[in-house]
Amino acid sequence: MPLPHIAVIVGSNRRDSINRKLAQALVQLAAGKFDATFVRIDDLPMYNQDDEGTLPTAVARFKAELARADGVLIVTPEHNRSIPTVLKNAVDWGARPWGKNSWFGKPGFITGTSPGAIGSALAQQHLRLILISLGMTLLGGDAFITFKPDLIDDQGNIGDDATRKFLADFVDRFATLVARLAPASERQAA
Ligand SMILES: Cc1cc2nc3c(=O)[nH]c(=O)nc-3n(C[C@H](O)[C@H](O)[C@H](O)COP(=O)(O)O)c2cc1C
Repeated sequence: MPLPHIAVIVGSNRRDSINRKLAQALVQLAAGKFDATFVRIDDLPMYNQDDEGTLPTAVARFKAELARADGVLIVTPEHNRSIPTVLKNAVDWGARPWGKNSWFGKPGFITGTSPGAIGSALAQQHLRLILISLGMTLLGGDAFITFKPDLIDDQGNIGDDATRKFLADFVDRFATLVARLAPASERQAA
């Protein structure tokens, strides 16, 4: 039976993003539970309603990748107590044009990390409000991760046992949610 196909979006366009590291670690934890593809958002043009008639190539590619996905994992930093501009831009393109909302009905798992004590909590909460109003079904629970330099090694292994178990539980629950909302019989070929 084919595994569910998950689109992974990192809410940072920074080369050495700690959120990309966390996303890679999560994909590793998900081995055998779902297949994952990292979906670029850094090449999307700034959202402009004037461009909705003929979607820019990168936007059309982005929306096609979302359409193929059985679920979406978003791993985001916090910028000024909210979501980064690059991620909001991607959310807006995904939601448009009217009637072509790529987020609608998708199961989602939001997490993220920052060096700060609350681990991108406010950004995650803002994102949750937006995506619920766009019709996503989001995994419950708070996965706010405080980043420490030795938390994740270059191979994507989480060094700390407690954090690995904590995140593995979210990954398992997300795989279950996706299997319920996108059963194998209804999945598109990847
Ligand atoms: C514009 C900007 C705003 C930031 N605001 C916050 C913030 O509100 N809360 C926080 O915990 N960290 C904040 N940070 C620090 C980020 O958590 C840190 O840069 C982190 O590495 C970003 O994640 P990334 O490496 O995946 O891009 C901010 C960083 C930048 C560049």
